[in-house]
Amino acid sequence: MKLTIDTDQKTLVCEGVAGREELPLYSDRAFDLIAEQWVKVGWNQRYSYTFSWMGRPIIQLPEDMVRTQEVIYRVKPDVIIETGVAHGGSLIFYASLCKALGKGRVIGIDIEIRPPNRQAIEGHEMASLITLIEGSSTAPATVAKAQSLVRPGETVLVLLDSNHTRQHVADELEAYHGLVTPGSYIVATDGIMKDLHDVPRGQPEWTWDHPTAAAAEFAARHPEFAVEQPSWAFNESGLTRNLTHWPGAWLRRVR
Ligand SMILES: C[S@@+](CC[C@H](N)C(=O)[O-])C[C@H]1O[C@@H](n2cnc3c(N)ncnc32)[C@H](O)[C@@H]1O
Repeated sequence: MKLTIDTDQKTLVCEGVAGREELPLYSDRAFDLIAEQWVKVGWNQRYSYTFSWMGRPIIQLPEDMVRTQEVIYRVKPDVIIETGVAHGGSLIFYASLCKALGKGRVIGIDIEIRPPNRQAIEGHEMASLITLIEGSSTAPATVAKAQSLVRPGETVLVLLDSNHTRQHVADELEAYHGLVTPGSYIVATDGIMKDLHDVPRGQPEWTWDHPTAAAAEFAARHPEFAVEQPSWAFNESGLTRNLTHWPGAWLRRVR
């Protein structure tokens, strides 16, 4: 595809297999086309490796965090489980929302919690709301430990941000979906990989090996879940598409 932005004429020309499209630059469609490329170039340039939350690196696209905040405010979970802790930024982000809401706590699972990260998380202002579990997210002992920390009747939201292979995400979905309460979600993050097979830092196998495929296959096997992008809580624009690293990620428990 070839995109040509003419800032003098205020047009965007898109040429591809579907033909040639000339659009006003200041249009919703032009925004979506530019945003798609912005997300790809930004991923390659490690834009999501430039943020922190309350002092801890958070490896996320800020829009994904604001959208997740919209869901957390709406669902008000008692427990948020996240696989993939890394430096702890996202865990602390979720914990800070729980603190602000006066409700909820978080469980973070990682195959390796490096000592400096553990020290920083356990010494953080949000530490009292965080439980860390070290182990592979799909190991039966890890899953059992996480399950044991959830009390009957609690509302649970699960975010999967560990190993992003299709198989691992499929295994995580099977392991954790039973904890998710109706109206809440299990989220297979980072499916943007499917669009990154041709960027310099991408891998050719990402055309098929990605979390979005695992989420779609899971939904086909589990009719109690639907792939459903949470609706925006506020929108005074004509725009409808998320700028996201998490396409097709949100699986809502419908019953
Ligand atoms: C993308 S990082 C997580 C980023 C973090 N959620 C954030 O937003 O800052 C992925 C993490 O998953 C962990 N990981 C990889 N394989 C795993 C597995 N099988 N089980 C649990 N964690 C795993 C890695 O150790 C790494 O810390």
